Amino acid sequence: MADYVLAIDQGTTSTRAIVFTKGGTIHSVGQHEHEQIFPKAGWVEHNPVEIWDNTREVIGQAMGKGNLSNDDIAAIGITNQRETAVVWDKNTGEPVYNAIVWQDTRTSKIVAELGADEGPDRFKASCGLPLATYFSGPKVKWILDNVEGARERAEAGDLLFGNTDSWVLWNLTGGVDGGVHVTDVTNASRTMLMNLETLSWDEGIAGAMGIPMSMLPEIKSCSEVYGHSTKLGVPIAGILGDQQAATFGQACFEKGMSKNTYGTGNFMLLNTGTEIVPSHNGLLTTVCYKIGDQDAVYALEGSIAVTGSLVQWLRDNVGLIKEAPEIETLAKEVDDNGGCYIVPAFSGLFAPYWKDDARGAIVGLTRYVNKHHIARAALESTAFQTREVSDAMTADSGVELAELRVDGGMVANETLMQFQADILGVDVVRPEVAETTALGAAYAAGIAVGFFSGEQDVIDNWKEGKRWSPSMDETERERLFRNWKKAVTKTFDWVDDDSEAEEKSASEDADA
Ligand SMILES: Nc1ncnc2c1ncn2[C@@H]1O[C@H](COP(=O)(O)OP(=O)(O)OP(=O)(O)O)[C@@H](O)[C@H]1O
Ligand SMILES: [Mg+2]
Repeated sequence: MADYVLAIDQGTTSTRAIVFTKGGTIHSVGQHEHEQIFPKAGWVEHNPVEIWDNTREVIGQAMGKGNLSNDDIAAIGITNQRETAVVWDKNTGEPVYNAIVWQDTRTSKIVAELGADEGPDRFKASCGLPLATYFSGPKVKWILDNVEGARERAEAGDLLFGNTDSWVLWNLTGGVDGGVHVTDVTNASRTMLMNLETLSWDEGIAGAMGIPMSMLPEIKSCSEVYGHSTKLGVPIAGILGDQQAATFGQACFEKGMSKNTYGTGNFMLLNTGTEIVPSHNGLLTTVCYKIGDQDAVYALEGSIAVTGSLVQWLRDNVGLIKEAPEIETLAKEVDDNGGCYIVPAFSGLFAPYWKDDARGAIVGLTRYVNKHHIARAALESTAFQTREVSDAMTADSGVELAELRVDGGMVANETLMQFQADILGVDVVRPEVAETTALGAAYAAGIAVGFFSGEQDVIDNWKEGKRWSPSMDETERERLFRNWKKAVTKTFDWVDDDSEAEEKSASEDADA
């Protein structure tokens, strides 16, 4: 009897495999980090082969720790870092280049050229997205333009593209021996290549980017059987991009419900039902989920590139802390930021600004500011960025935020959660199971094979873990937020045409 479902969470920093029970609780976990490759300032890559090796390893870990055999698993779900582009050869299974990660800004010139006279909104009516370095389509164009021989091989039909969901699925289902080349609607909606209404590839956009249609995976729903794992013999039956998976795992099934995930970056999604709501305030329109033959449900999304990764940066690049949780220990020793604000525009600014020529800044420094204030300012930047996105959602949808469901690695940080409630002026609620990304993929897979009966199981299993209520007075909230917005303006227009030379020589120095 299969009593469990297994979810693979192929994330930006690590790959996890989590086995869930019917009650939506965690039975066992495997996890392995992969290398972050920074060849130049602004470039971020992963090795797809390492990711696939880690995927197999973490599945083994989770199965072993949970004392499970193949028969115990009813279905496998996949969730993943979205927009990260892998291009590989279908005959050899070898990637033609490293995966170009969603945070990578190397496509800024391509993106500007694609916009040409029409500007960043050239393809927005079809795909819901502004032209930005964030999305996979321009990254595929970069690979075809820059990797020797790649364009010819792509045109000959030898190369396949996918976000990491497709890469993992193709390998799980046999790779060169009959691997299925499929993606789901949520991942497809992050490429810039899918029409949101028809849920099929937009040949006009693919043509404008010079991407042969033969490279693109088949688009399917988030909950259906795509194929079987050749190793385990178990159906793979759910795929959702990580942020949509978290929305699913948080049971945000009704129009107007929203969640915010605090990981490498922050991603807030608002369910807009079956309606495609265009944004006028810097949000993205995206697919939220689609279960089998049912209508697709859409979302407005506020994507923030850098939140948890600012904490990693303070740990790895600055050496301020040794482990992520120490940021809270430091921050707690002061009551405020001492006038200091950190705007972590490491990959430019995403929502709601979409400025790829912004770069990070620490402002408001005086002789008074110490490391505690800096630690606090780092945490506060996550909360301020979330407030900006939340304001944009209210402006786009006309719906006032009533409370915010949160999840992700940073929600362990209580100082941050309290400040988040203070800055938003609404309650912040953390569920008992904060691994909602993997959980959402597990539910989608379980629903497809009848292990779960449907969304009602997700709703019934969702339980409140902890709640934070605002305690800051309105004047103080608005004063801090006004200062934050001023700090953000200090990061604009930083990158000049010749900045690349400077960044390149800096990275060469670092290599030497
Ligand atoms: N106590 C803490 N306080 C602040 N930040 C934390 C804390 N614990 C973890 N983090 C941050 O949370 C992030 C990890 O969260 P999570 O595992 O949800 O990330 P993720 O974005 O899902 O990763 P991936 O992209 O690999 O899925 C890291 O960036 C880390 O710096
Ligand atoms: Mg994640």
